Amino acid sequence: MAFQLPVLVKLPVLLWVSGGTAKIVVNGSTGFLHPAGKEGVSPLAKNMVKLATHFERRLTMGKRGYERVKRRFMEHHMANRIAKVLKEVLHK
Ligand SMILES: *[C@@H]1O[C@H](CO)[C@@H](O)[C@H](O)[C@H]1NC(C)=O
Repeated sequence: MAFQLPVLVKLPVLLWVSGGTAKIVVNGSTGFLHPAGKEGVSPLAKNMVKLATHFERRLTMGKRGYERVKRRFMEHHMANRIAKVLKEVLHK
């Protein structure tokens, strides 16, 4: 069975800052981070409108996010899978 990359959607991400979310999004580059709670509501709304009305910006941020995820997570994931297969083969 061939390994297939999952289909990744190239969209910017809007998140609240909490836990590990700050590691997922590069604020202002691949999406926007907002303070948790009430104070984050207004900037979140503004950024939603910004991305909805700025086609080029939405496209660019989405592409950057896609490349980042592919580079950081997918290739690492694939390297681990290849290493696992090699270990299995070498043990036989
Ligand atoms: C994200 O960047 C914007 C400016 O682009 C800034 O106003 C906002 O405070 C930043 N958010 C965080 C959580 O750093």
